[in-house]
Amino acid sequence: KEWTKEERYRVLKNREEIVDLHERIKQSQYRQSYHIQPITGLLNDPNGFVFHKDKWHLFYQWCPWGAVHGLKYWYHTESSDLVHWDNKGICIHPDQDFDNKGAYSGSALVTNHSIYLYYTGNHRDEDWKRSSYTCLVNMRDDGTSHKYSKPLFGPHPSYTEHQRDPKIIYRKKEKMYYLLIGAQTADKKGCIIVYKSPYHNKEWTFAGQLNVPGFEDFGDMWECPSIEHIDDCDILIFCPQHLSIPSRGNNIHHNGYIIGHMDYDTLTFTPDGQFHVLDFGFDSYAAECAANINDQKKAILVAWMGLPDASYPTDDEEWSGCLTLPRELTVRKRRLIQRPLKQLETLRDKKINPFNRELPKCCEIDLRLHGNIDFNLFTKQDGSGGLMIHYDESQKHIYIDRSGMTNRFNKELGESQTRILDHPLNHLQIYIDASSIEIFVNDGDAVFTSRVFPTKEEHFFSIIGEGTMQIYTLKSSNGN
Ligand code: FRU
Repeated sequence: KEWTKEERYRVLKNREEIVDLHERIKQSQYRQSYHIQPITGLLNDPNGFVFHKDKWHLFYQWCPWGAVHGLKYWYHTESSDLVHWDNKGICIHPDQDFDNKGAYSGSALVTNHSIYLYYTGNHRDEDWKRSSYTCLVNMRDDGTSHKYSKPLFGPHPSYTEHQRDPKIIYRKKEKMYYLLIGAQTADKKGCIIVYKSPYHNKEWTFAGQLNVPGFEDFGDMWECPSIEHIDDCDILIFCPQHLSIPSRGNNIHHNGYIIGHMDYDTLTFTPDGQFHVLDFGFDSYAAECAANINDQKKAILVAWMGLPDASYPTDDEEWSGCLTLPRELTVRKRRLIQRPLKQLETLRDKKINPFNRELPKCCEIDLRLHGNIDFNLFTKQDGSGGLMIHYDESQKHIYIDRSGMTNRFNKELGESQTRILDHPLNHLQIYIDASSIEIFVNDGDAVFTSRVFPTKEEHFFSIIGEGTMQIYTLKSSNGN
């Protein structure tokens, strides 16, 4: 479908306007049953992920009308266990001149009595010229949201129109708040610009551009930047765009991280190693972390299970996108480790017999193994087709290929991914939902996230290899 500008940027006046669409979409065989997904339209980046007064709050970029990047809202979901999520509705409406073409991505700060949401007001004038404003909404405990009538600040004149995705950070040591903003220099290099203030809601001043030695020419725009502090390490997480990474096929938009040391006085992030991608699968972008207040050695990460400039089989059904499962994030040997949360076990329903080779629509597979393996998921009954997981012990190569599926998509970005493991493969923990697969390798050493759209016939698996396998069907947790 071709969308006109009017259709993409149409303002949603009330819920009734999308009720029929929602009813239709609910019938889709690809509706997820335990992942966060939009009621209608398109979901992209997770935003403002925080814990406040016994509840996790997570927002996401949402365009109600269809699988198109048009007028964006912040949609709010809430959970007490990170497994069951309640849809709370729109939290930030793009209803001002400074955000007239979208309430773009950002982050959250928790104070004693409420949550502050920092976002980008995507403004365009009549000539479609863009200016980004850094804006603030206060979400109170009674659930009401109050948008500040003026932005905190406007675009910086020395950078191009690409300035967005504020990440709020408070530093006790400097007694200072910082906002990191993804940007593009005048000569089209990706970077991060930093603002600071002793207060969280006023008197912001430009502090400078973040120095990241060795990364001065690394993609042309850095989206969704963040600096996390986990287990005494500083971790710069961001999405460099239009960058070729040989091991990543033709995909040019990445989500990755650098471990190093952040000096807030000199605004220098000193890398202690190279750039690593966060996820080795096909569909993952714009990760957002929540701090774990009880354990400084762990954070929680969630990402958009999708990519910019890509399309998906449900686009024709007028919806697209979902979030990954929230994952426990830790640091081991200067690498990020992502594990499924322990509490996901509460979704387990029945343990099923693996011998009949049937793959339930929503399930968890736990495989302890050794040696080579050929594991094909979503095959037809005769074992043909499907998504292939191949492991070659002699080279410690794990190879994932989704070209055998009937529904193929984003072929031009590459249909297979390989990773060389640090240790021989001994564990795979796999979460399958109606249209996604998340493969956790060797206790969080690597994760492969991918959308998959199996046909009704593709619900079997075949396996050649040595080990033990458990399969659990999983209960639904999102009301679809
Ligand atoms: C990343 C992104 C952000 C922007 C948002 C708009 O996917 O392009 O940079 O704020 O999506 O929805």
